[in-house]
Amino acid sequence: MQNSAVVTINHLLKQFPVGGDYFTALKDVTLSFARGEFTGLVGPSGSGKTTLLNIIGGLDSPTEGTVDVLGKVLDNTSHGDRALLRRKHMGFIFQSYNLLPVYTVFENVELPLILNKVEEKEREKMVKEAVEWVGLTDKLNSRPAMLSGGECQRTAIARAIVHKPELILADEPTANLDAENSHHIMKIMTGLNRELSTSFIFATHDEKIMAYLRRIIHLDDGQISEDERIEHPQG
Ligand SMILES: Nc1ncnc2c1ncn2[C@@H]1O[C@H](COP(=O)(O)OP(=O)(O)OP(=O)(O)O)[C@@H](O)[C@H]1O
Ligand SMILES: [Mg+2]
Repeated sequence: MQNSAVVTINHLLKQFPVGGDYFTALKDVTLSFARGEFTGLVGPSGSGKTTLLNIIGGLDSPTEGTVDVLGKVLDNTSHGDRALLRRKHMGFIFQSYNLLPVYTVFENVELPLILNKVEEKEREKMVKEAVEWVGLTDKLNSRPAMLSGGECQRTAIARAIVHKPELILADEPTANLDAENSHHIMKIMTGLNRELSTSFIFATHDEKIMAYLRRIIHLDDGQISEDERIEHPQG
């Protein structure tokens, strides 16, 4: 990569067609994320956090402006590129875990590696490593229905990190968890960030998450109202 930015966004506008009109969800958003940043997008409900995360993740495309992720320009014409970028270089964590109910922990975590055509022996090694990271080695053969919410989210984290992506996008990952589990998963993600320099972007309302963030971007009505750097005593 030419510079250390994993994401560069310039004058992003996002409008959704509503009836015969448009709703503007993001306007004139310009910002960049450096490699290894641990950032939160915060702001009231409807301020555009998920929309921005989806555009960075290539799940949605900008109306105007440019979005460059890991050296690739994402626009309306780059469907195949976006899919590849997601599969190889990004991990996603959602509020609702999005695990496949008939699959075990092992199989859920293995899925991105199958999509990336990783060979079986290597897959097994990588899945076990990721599952160990999140402390679920004893649940490898359990299905989601047999797991607690915290364990489901830890499985989802293992699935997001198994292919060692450069960038992880997490939309309200602690919304369904109690305080203890929220802190547990934030510690797992902080550890990954520190040891592998994985970049994280969260969308969140959760005060518990904010205590871990090193940068907080405030969104208000589709615009950035503040971009704050936080110093942590432990660095
Ligand atoms: N597909 C869509 N069509 C029309 N409007 C949409 C669409 N998706 C989002 N919006 C609108 O865009 C605005 C921003 O939505 P977004 O989901 O990004 O908010 P958010 O900050 O993530 O909110 P929350 O905290 O409730 O998750 C909202 O007003 C929403 O209604
Ligand atoms: Mg949202």
